[in-house]
Amino acid sequence: MSIKIGLLGFGTVASGIPFLLSENSEKVVAASRDELEIAKVLVKDDEEKNRLIAAGNDYHFVTNVDEILNDTDIQIVVELMGRIEPARTFITKALEAGKNVVSANKDLIATHGKELIALAQEKGVAFYYEAAVAGGIPILRTLANSLTSDKVTRILGVLNGTSNFMMTKMVDEGWTYEDALKTAQELGYAESDPTNDVEGIDAAYKAVILSQFGFGMTIDFETVEHKGITTITPDDVAVAQELGYVIKLVGDVREVESGVSAEVSPTFLPKEHPLASVNDVMNAVFVESIGIGESMYYGPGAGQKPTATSVLADIIRISRRIKDGNVGKPFNEFTLETRLANPADIKAKYYFAINVPDKKGQILRLADIFNAEDVSFEQVLQQKANGTSARVVIITHELSKTQLEAVNTQLEAQSDFDVVNILKVLGD
Ligand code: HSE
Repeated sequence: MSIKIGLLGFGTVASGIPFLLSENSEKVVAASRDELEIAKVLVKDDEEKNRLIAAGNDYHFVTNVDEILNDTDIQIVVELMGRIEPARTFITKALEAGKNVVSANKDLIATHGKELIALAQEKGVAFYYEAAVAGGIPILRTLANSLTSDKVTRILGVLNGTSNFMMTKMVDEGWTYEDALKTAQELGYAESDPTNDVEGIDAAYKAVILSQFGFGMTIDFETVEHKGITTITPDDVAVAQELGYVIKLVGDVREVESGVSAEVSPTFLPKEHPLASVNDVMNAVFVESIGIGESMYYGPGAGQKPTATSVLADIIRISRRIKDGNVGKPFNEFTLETRLANPADIKAKYYFAINVPDKKGQILRLADIFNAEDVSFEQVLQQKANGTSARVVIITHELSKTQLEAVNTQLEAQSDFDVVNILKVLGD
């Protein structure tokens, strides 16, 4: 007897599972308390099947998912197709058929996780997805298990390997955006459509899942503000460096008095912040909590073997639970009623880069606008004017989202001001 697995998809991550099964077989079998066998693999069509066989993959490839769903010997279905459909339908059918499911699909879990978790509970089966957030970093199980006695107050994360890789190459090595993206795709980091990576959408999906594990609350993906790396200009990067900051795409999930908030945005990180040194494809999740204090979980957020390691860990956990007869336990048992933070309570410092006419009185106009909203400046920098306009950079003291919107509206109303960028700044 062995535990039989049906794989849905045989892309980058899925093809890393056989490596671990063979290279670490003794430990995997001992931990699973049984052999794990990839019984069937769903691929798109005969062309893909023939290509994979020709490349030396010796599996029972099928092109109809029913061959897996109707196979009563298969106890664990592993979905590694990505995106919403057909993954959502296939997982739903697998759970309905009483199969345990492992997935790395953050898009699906962030948007439809609630219904799939409820279905798994109803059917008494497992639905695990450690690899969905920060691929090779075991952050979800850490939050669910090791931090169970702690109260998390904020989670900050460099959650997208592709954009972090691109930013690192562009800033440190002067690569173009296009070259950085092309290399990220060649290395298998980027999604097939990299929009989600570079626009902060992929990180926002992960922030939704982190909010469930860290705060027990499910934030609707639609309410997560997200801004990507495409908005960052070389001037922003240069000013950040001059002022002692590094810009990174950061997911920020925190609980304030009125509730929980999540957003993803390019963020000025003080150079000494632990997240500032997270480079290339690496991810990190920085957790602030009342017990541990500050802790950071660091590792590869994408890539074949790291992600496959997390997927296989879920499979092994399910196998053990099958043996123990308690497979229906939810992945995350921490659930509270969701309370969304009031924008007036969500506070941060901000960087404003504004082009103003090169004539007297402009700083005074800016001071009036910020002052009217009760916002004070921490640093102000005016760059050498080019004859017609000058770039004014302001770093504010803390202001709320409500104040931010009011200031922004006032700035936008000045027809001769050009707001080039507004970015969050981390720090005291
Ligand atoms: N495209 C994702 C990233 C893969 O670059 O982080 C892991 O979700």
